[in-house]
Amino acid sequence: MKGRITRRAFLKEAGLLTAAAALPLGLVNVAWGKKPTDRFTFAYISDCHITQIRGTEFVANFDKGLQRAVLELSFLDPQPDFVVFGGDLAQLGKVAELEHGLEMLKGVTLPIKWVIGEHDYYLDLGEYWQKHISPLHYSFDHKGVHFVVLNSILTDDDWTHNRWPTAEERMHQMARLDNPHGSPFMVKREQLAWLKQDLAKIPRTTPLIVLSHSPLYKIFKPWNFWTDDAEAVQAQLKQFRSVKVFHGHVHQVLYNQLGPITFNAFMATAWPWPYPVTYSQLPNKVPELTVFMNRADPFKERDGTGWGSVQVADGLVHHYELWENSPRTVRSPGAGKRPEDTVYQDPAKRIPPQTHY
Ligand SMILES: [Fe+2]
Ligand SMILES: [Fe+2]
Repeated sequence: MKGRITRRAFLKEAGLLTAAAALPLGLVNVAWGKKPTDRFTFAYISDCHITQIRGTEFVANFDKGLQRAVLELSFLDPQPDFVVFGGDLAQLGKVAELEHGLEMLKGVTLPIKWVIGEHDYYLDLGEYWQKHISPLHYSFDHKGVHFVVLNSILTDDDWTHNRWPTAEERMHQMARLDNPHGSPFMVKREQLAWLKQDLAKIPRTTPLIVLSHSPLYKIFKPWNFWTDDAEAVQAQLKQFRSVKVFHGHVHQVLYNQLGPITFNAFMATAWPWPYPVTYSQLPNKVPELTVFMNRADPFKERDGTGWGSVQVADGLVHHYELWENSPRTVRSPGAGKRPEDTVYQDPAKRIPPQTHY
């Protein structure tokens, strides 16, 4: 098929050389700091959804996605400065799933910056994660860039604490799409106050990268491609000259620009989601500019997972290398300007919808 991944081109773009097999792994190259020595790269792995069948038996395909990402990472030369894990390590938040995922991630020798996903959270409300993995929200500085990690998958207290007879039932309810008994994701007041305090310490011209699990804007509520108080987060971020938000959760090519904030999704290692509009008549807010990821064969789960390499300077270029599908490049020129797919933005040039067979 046209556009099959060319590994060499991807690595060249990312400024990296290696000799391993192909993989779902994101790379972000940041050339945003004041000095050339401020350039750095970090890797991004997300949405592995490690699923326990019983005992020590796990869904092999999801294990393989994560294992391959870890292997790929180990071959990168030079090594990135750190790795971001974008959330949804587990499928149902079980200790067995988290620990099996962590065991596979032991192959990563770089520091990992952790973002929690809803599949990691709603069984024990982040207890294991905080004890053994990471705080749920925090910030750090790296070579002139301020990073903020948000826990964007909280929801209202009544739903969380009073609605369900067991923790397992709560987790199952949050894991469902199109769930009339679901509840939207939120950052919530306490974290918003923390964010305000954190950002107050840095000049408004500081390059800012925000890492969240769900997109910090609103796309489609029935699937929780949605953060209910996104506007309150955006209001704080908009005070900065330029902000990049990277997220997981949506398992698809997705991007947006709201004022100075550029949003980009990374691909999952587990499976791709379709776009809500292809499955539902309900209203959705998928950004108008989005060129949908064409799924040549929707029954082939690797068609729609893939790599991304991102070049961050004042603007941003996100190059998606999709497994057995056409590569895509999206340019985001920066504040107030629309991101554009460099090849497929013109509707006449888009790949026609696939034939199901
Ligand atoms: Fe996910
Ligand atoms: Fe998620």
